[in-house]
Amino acid sequence: MEENKVELVTVTIDGHQVEVEAGTTIMQAARKIGPEVAPPAMCYYKPLEGTGGKCRACLVKVAQGSTRDPRPMPKLIASCITQVQDGMVIENFTSPEVIEARKGVVEFLLINHPLDCPVCDQAGECHLQDFSFNHGVGTTRYEEERRTFEKEDLGDKIQLHMTRCILCYRCVKTADQITDKRVHGVMNRGDHAEISTYIEKAIDNDFSGNMIDVCPVGALTDKTYRFKNRVWFSKPYDAHRDCDKCCGKVHLWYRGEEVIRVTGRKNMWGEVEDFICNTCRFDKKESSDWTIEGPTKVSRHSVISANKYRADLISKPEFALKVAESQYKQINDDRPFLKELPEIKKSEDYQGLMKQNKDYFRK
Ligand code: SF4
Ligand code: SF4
Ligand code: FES
Repeated sequence: MEENKVELVTVTIDGHQVEVEAGTTIMQAARKIGPEVAPPAMCYYKPLEGTGGKCRACLVKVAQGSTRDPRPMPKLIASCITQVQDGMVIENFTSPEVIEARKGVVEFLLINHPLDCPVCDQAGECHLQDFSFNHGVGTTRYEEERRTFEKEDLGDKIQLHMTRCILCYRCVKTADQITDKRVHGVMNRGDHAEISTYIEKAIDNDFSGNMIDVCPVGALTDKTYRFKNRVWFSKPYDAHRDCDKCCGKVHLWYRGEEVIRVTGRKNMWGEVEDFICNTCRFDKKESSDWTIEGPTKVSRHSVISANKYRADLISKPEFALKVAESQYKQINDDRPFLKELPEIKKSEDYQGLMKQNKDYFRK
């Protein structure tokens, strides 16, 4: 019997070559190489079919279409929905045009977004925060009044903040594909579009809680965890239980001894591969309900990994090191700390500091 041969194609992304199956998207090919070339994604979510193509966060430049037709593509394209061709050459972080376009995408996403980060439960694990930190600019040109909405009640488990929604459709796809009835969707179009339930029906399906996990921002958050903690003060642990509805594999988020939140497990791209049921998420908040496997390895670059487990594993961003090197004096860590006071007072550092203080108080 003749075996079905898989057609392989070769593509180059930011100078890295990779071989992938024909039909693979640029995003998946880039992820195969690694995070150093993978474009950011706000609406694409691999475990959910039909996601992507909404936010334009993943724009890349196709510098060469294919070996057969090497012409570049005239416009930047969304990498999450564009398939690779053999011999394609793609520029992502190496293209100034892409970097410039992403600034515009961030600006658009933030046009109506509230300055809620200090009170938003998503802060610290928000893809929009990461996206604007990495690709946005620190200022806004927007002077108009921001859009507001009538409050919608989605029941006692899920909190909707429509002002924070970026209309990525991930929650709609989740409801479509992993619950047995969808009662919400994107209503209206253009700048009138919003996520809403029909006749304000509560979302009361066994798997509805997954919409919280897939939401890249703080538009859908866990009502049972609301305002309980900042995420970087909580400790995630891998745990599992025998569940007759789902895989039962979760992260338990601890504050001290208390389980304050249960979520699905996310991979390095921030995507849940095994969705969990509402019983595991909302009703099992005792350590005794679970078999604890150990501290979660937070692989995504995140403040969650800061402060807690392994300070030596936290890498300082390249740009911050460069700024520090150019603007601050090197500290000589070899100097003896227990110098005599008169000697310290004679030192250049001490004199400089005292002068600075005097100048400051004279003002
Ligand atoms: S959704 Fe993200 S960016 Fe928006 S307020 Fe919440 S943490 Fe901030
Ligand atoms: S509520 Fe969240 S998941 Fe749903 S469309 Fe808005 S941003 Fe996306
Ligand atoms: S991630 Fe590609 S368009 Fe949103």
